Amino acid sequence: MNVLVIGNGGREHAILLALKKSKRIEKLYCMKGNAGTAEIAENVDVDYMNVEAVKAYADAHPEIDYYVIAPDDPLAIGLVDELEAMGKRCFGPRKNAAVIEASKAFAKELMKKYKIPTAESETFDDYSKALEYVRAKGAPLVLKADGLALGKGVLICETMEQAEEGLKEIMLDKAFGAAGNKIVIEECMRGLKYTPGEEVSVLAFTDGKTIVPMITSCDHKRSNDGDKGLNTGGMGTFAPCPFWNEKLEKQVLKTIMIPTMKAMNAEGRTFKGCLYFGLMRTDKGMKVVEYNSRFGDPETQVVLPMLKTDLMDIFEAVTEEKLSEVKIEWEDGACVCVVLASGGYPVSYIKGKEITIGDVGSAQIVHAGTAIKDGKLVTAGGRVLGVVAKGKDIEEARLKAYSAAENIHWENMHYRKDIGVKYREG
Ligand code: AMP
Ligand code: GLY
Repeated sequence: MNVLVIGNGGREHAILLALKKSKRIEKLYCMKGNAGTAEIAENVDVDYMNVEAVKAYADAHPEIDYYVIAPDDPLAIGLVDELEAMGKRCFGPRKNAAVIEASKAFAKELMKKYKIPTAESETFDDYSKALEYVRAKGAPLVLKADGLALGKGVLICETMEQAEEGLKEIMLDKAFGAAGNKIVIEECMRGLKYTPGEEVSVLAFTDGKTIVPMITSCDHKRSNDGDKGLNTGGMGTFAPCPFWNEKLEKQVLKTIMIPTMKAMNAEGRTFKGCLYFGLMRTDKGMKVVEYNSRFGDPETQVVLPMLKTDLMDIFEAVTEEKLSEVKIEWEDGACVCVVLASGGYPVSYIKGKEITIGDVGSAQIVHAGTAIKDGKLVTAGGRVLGVVAKGKDIEEARLKAYSAAENIHWENMHYRKDIGVKYREG
């Protein structure tokens, strides 16, 4: 088979690395890809948000048997629907199911209607009504722009001042553009043992009939050590989550995952692909923080290396709605990914810095914002590389990842030193 993966980041490189292990794959392609994907796949220079351009490419390349649509934005505009209409086989939800991520108001409405545990919330499109609600509820509150905002449309407001300011930013100043036409105002959840909260990312394969959680992982969203600094796309991950166990998985399947799959079916929006559950362990049990309609980044970088089963077999089973027939197996042990970012990310940073990679031992370097310029490897984004290492436990994996990271350099490189340290006691 010849398989094309859509996307440019670390997640896509990690998916390609997993597919590369498949015995059934002859050639891999990546649209548009980066310097890392170019090493294992043919990079295709087509803008994947330009539906007509993607269709023209697909039409001209009948040798490509299967498309994996990894990022949220092409899913949200219905790229899967368009490719399927041409008779192409795809991994990823259709537009009417991708809305579970593309609209937070939709997701909250769904959870309310089907009694899926989540933070209490109300949705508004009118500023003065929203303000009235904020004043009635009082701080702390969480404000969420309805639409896609590169993971930045969420404001945790500890004081009334922050809440009123945030509301104005989102709804009047349109800090996140049209994503802020509607706003979700949520109760602020607290972790059971840790503040602000104990979060776990559970990615799951689903074909709409069966849902199978993958190995769990934990992201580090803030830019600096100790969960300080601004929210980013994710500065590192580890798998599995220390407080996860079989009993909790059973319970979450029963109260959250299966009800979500069934709710989407009942709404006529069957979800096929990777459904990502961002969950929080609270004093009132596990609750949904967010849904994503895709693999997480950088969660994928620590989840897929632990997969023993052929990923292509799973993808096809999802497409053919035969997921129940596949036995999905995982390695024991743990995996850690430390993201190396451009200094200044997520605000402003300089691209084009030359990268040198020394001895990284058994670590796998996953590329995100990289490019080749004049024959040299250079930075081309905020998150540049992920250093991924496996070990018998998180501690061993993190030591390997950090010793590899020490041998990678570019001017003004920044990374967190505490990936894999949180929730130590489970
Ligand atoms: P989201 O984009 O919805 O995942 O939100 C980004 C981050 O904000 C989450 O990973 C949480 O750390 C935090 N967050 C979102 N909603 C809540 C909430 N209701 N209570 C506490 N923290 C939240
Ligand atoms: N790492 C969080 C996300 O992919 O949304």
